[in-house]
Amino acid sequence: MAKNRSRWVCQECGYSSNAFLGKCTECSSWGSLVEEKIIETKTKSGLGGQNLRAHEPEADFAPVMLKDIASSETGRITTGIKDLDEVLGGGLVPGSVTLLAGDPGIGKSTLLLQVAKSASQYQKILYVAGEESANQVRLRASRLGMLDSDVYIDARHNVVEIGKRLLEWREGVAIIDSIQSVYHPEMGSAPGSVGQVRESAQEIISAAKAVNTAVILVGHVTKDGSIAGPRVLEHMVDVVLQFEGDRARQLRILRAVKNRFGSTQEAAIFTMTDKGLSEVDNPSALLLGERLNILGKKQAPSGTAVIASGEGNRVLMLEVQALASGTNLAAPRRVSNGWDNNRLLQIAAVLEKKVGIMLSRSDLYVNVVGGIDIDDPAGDLGVAVAIATSSLDRSTDPGSVFIGEIGLTGEVRPVVALERRIKEARRLGFTRAVVPAASAPLPFKSSADFNIIQVHTVTEALNAAIPGMKVSFELKDSDKNKGKKTVSSSRQVYARDREGDYSGLPEIPDIMD
Ligand code: TYD
Ligand code: MG
Repeated sequence: MAKNRSRWVCQECGYSSNAFLGKCTECSSWGSLVEEKIIETKTKSGLGGQNLRAHEPEADFAPVMLKDIASSETGRITTGIKDLDEVLGGGLVPGSVTLLAGDPGIGKSTLLLQVAKSASQYQKILYVAGEESANQVRLRASRLGMLDSDVYIDARHNVVEIGKRLLEWREGVAIIDSIQSVYHPEMGSAPGSVGQVRESAQEIISAAKAVNTAVILVGHVTKDGSIAGPRVLEHMVDVVLQFEGDRARQLRILRAVKNRFGSTQEAAIFTMTDKGLSEVDNPSALLLGERLNILGKKQAPSGTAVIASGEGNRVLMLEVQALASGTNLAAPRRVSNGWDNNRLLQIAAVLEKKVGIMLSRSDLYVNVVGGIDIDDPAGDLGVAVAIATSSLDRSTDPGSVFIGEIGLTGEVRPVVALERRIKEARRLGFTRAVVPAASAPLPFKSSADFNIIQVHTVTEALNAAIPGMKVSFELKDSDKNKGKKTVSSSRQVYARDREGDYSGLPEIPDIMD
């Protein structure tokens, strides 16, 4: 028998309380707690109140020797999309649950309909369309040219019914679009609330595991970028795929952020076309776009730099833009888009303390062009160059790529896969790479058309980045004796050295003259 008890669950973080609270004690958001009825039925096992064993036979509780467990690795299910299979670690594992998370309108339903289309050649596919009517799905499917594929569309929202359907099917792939649109009839709260999402996912997961169906759940992302309907969902599923990109620029990147059956190092890159998503062979060229046109020019605008970011086995060349603009705010703004804000703070601090570029009276904005979030420390050096050149208002060499992690002492630290990054830069027509000085000799050398400049510190990197200029903290006193010209302003102190050794640099007019 169901008892009527309630709890209040935070819709932001999933925290639950026995009494109503105006402010969540876990994540401090206001007015986010919503009342949910707790259903206690006899089928619940008591394992944290979760319906873990609903579909498992009670008798099978004897432990099994590891070597006697039947292997499920034998048959991975191909999705029919090569790059997606790679991100999954070789395809979907039967009985696994994959969560596909992303902003609304990014293309989750489109991708999964395409998966349904190509995978239906080998598998029975059930597509539960919770967000759209069967007719709307048909419209989209006709656009994707898949009306004749064997895909079953189910427009039901009740997860208990969906679970029953999965148990009847006993195989294939089920796609639930989306977990926020389905509901568990025994829960009192509205679809999409934390409790509903958790219970619905649990119902589907236990059915999928019982009959070895591979399930893909679609999950929406909240304002702050986390997967709506709490982190619990991330712990419950086997694989979490994050789908992101810039809607205006057609480019989409799919990454595994959690994978129980493979690495999380792979990424797949797609473009959105009028016939759905298609795989991209040369994403860097697409991402750099206009920037490639200035390769042969003499100078790149101040506040820009090109980085080589590692995305699994690929290298993505991206343009980073920064703007340092004077402010009277006591706490200047530090805003980053596509770049981790804490890393921005750290780089700004290193530039100020170790290089001597005053940033404490400037607002800083950093943007990675292309709408892709970069989580690769090798991008540090490019971000530092973009910020420094914006602050100093100096142009850089357009043919340079900046690779390196920045440490707190201002040193440039080695990065993984340096060779691959340099190769990609070369392939795209760049002529210079500023890289960390390695203790061992590099397996490749500068050549007539490609110059590799090894640097130990950010200061050295800036000297290489800004032609004809020596940014130096230490030079401030000594440069007079050496006959160097010192330029100072209220915000920055630096010296220039026109005779410096910048072999391999194109002749660039000095804009400070
Ligand atoms: P959709 O898959 O509905 O996004 P989600 O399920 O993540 O909310 O994608 C919606 C966008 O994709 C929509 O703005 C239109 C665009 N789109 C195309 O550009 N080409 C296509 O062939 C399709 C089906 C959609
Ligand atoms: Mg959708």
